[in-house]
Amino acid sequence: MGIRVLVNGANGRMGQACIKAIMNEPGLVLVGETVREDDLAAAIKNSKAQVVVDFTNAEAVLKNVQIIIEAGAHPVIGTSGLLLDQVKQFQAQCDKLKLGGIIAPNFSLGVVLMMKYAQKMAKYFPHVEIIEMHHDGKLDSPSGTALRTAEMLAETRSATETKHSRETIPGARGASHHQIPIHAIRLPGLVAHEQIIFGGTGETLTLRHDSIDRVSFMPGVCLACKKVMTLDTLVYGLEHIL
Ligand SMILES: NC(=O)c1ccc[n+]([C@@H]2O[C@H](COP(=O)([O-])OP(=O)(O)OC[C@H]3O[C@@H](n4cnc5c(N)ncnc54)[C@H](O)[C@@H]3O)[C@@H](O)[C@H]2O)c1
Repeated sequence: MGIRVLVNGANGRMGQACIKAIMNEPGLVLVGETVREDDLAAAIKNSKAQVVVDFTNAEAVLKNVQIIIEAGAHPVIGTSGLLLDQVKQFQAQCDKLKLGGIIAPNFSLGVVLMMKYAQKMAKYFPHVEIIEMHHDGKLDSPSGTALRTAEMLAETRSATETKHSRETIPGARGASHHQIPIHAIRLPGLVAHEQIIFGGTGETLTLRHDSIDRVSFMPGVCLACKKVMTLDTLVYGLEHIL
């Protein structure tokens, strides 16, 4: 007996880590593993999965979330690439159905704490830039975590103009989300890393987080699988269930 969980994206690096973690987690039962070629809707129905964990890719995630919600299963979504408007649409759908779920750009406890503290700091240090570093197999840039960080910083920082030096090579100053520059580095050897650098008067303040192994995301994923069963809404960000 336990909560019946299906993992979608089972062949991937995160999918594999989830399968191991769920099999070892008291209170959770792994009832299905699906890959790109599988019929997700049929698999949810046949396995009677209550929760579906999705770690696939940015192209597939929109359709997957739709299928999971329509099947009446609780979505636990770690895949990056969803836009805020799409998240809001899924929230409205889940609200109507009173279906609990979570979309979390990052399931690591350390990252969530870093973002929470950064949000407080942004009130006093409005000049801020983000550097995110990931393995070179990551398909999307910037990372979902960096985008979410910028969104959270924007909620508390007083609007400030980032000084624009002329870019002699386009892109030199990074991308911009909520007027916060984000710089993305992709290299073999990295896993998932982020720095938030605040600049003040004669001082800088840097927050840094390193996920050195994918197991760092698993306590958050297992917690989410249990917590979504008690929710009647779709939350965005792990911080809402801690
Ligand atoms: N939220 C978090 O904490 C967190 C942490 C790490 C990675 N991620 C994100 O999770 C996603 C997966 O990362 P990864 O490193 O495991 O990537 P990966 O490339 O190793 O795995 C993705 C897998 O999904 C499969 N896939 C693609 N489309 C599919 C579909 N329609 N149905 C089923 N499977 C499908 C691929 O074949 C592949 O096996 C990425 O978007 C990444 O950014 C999120």
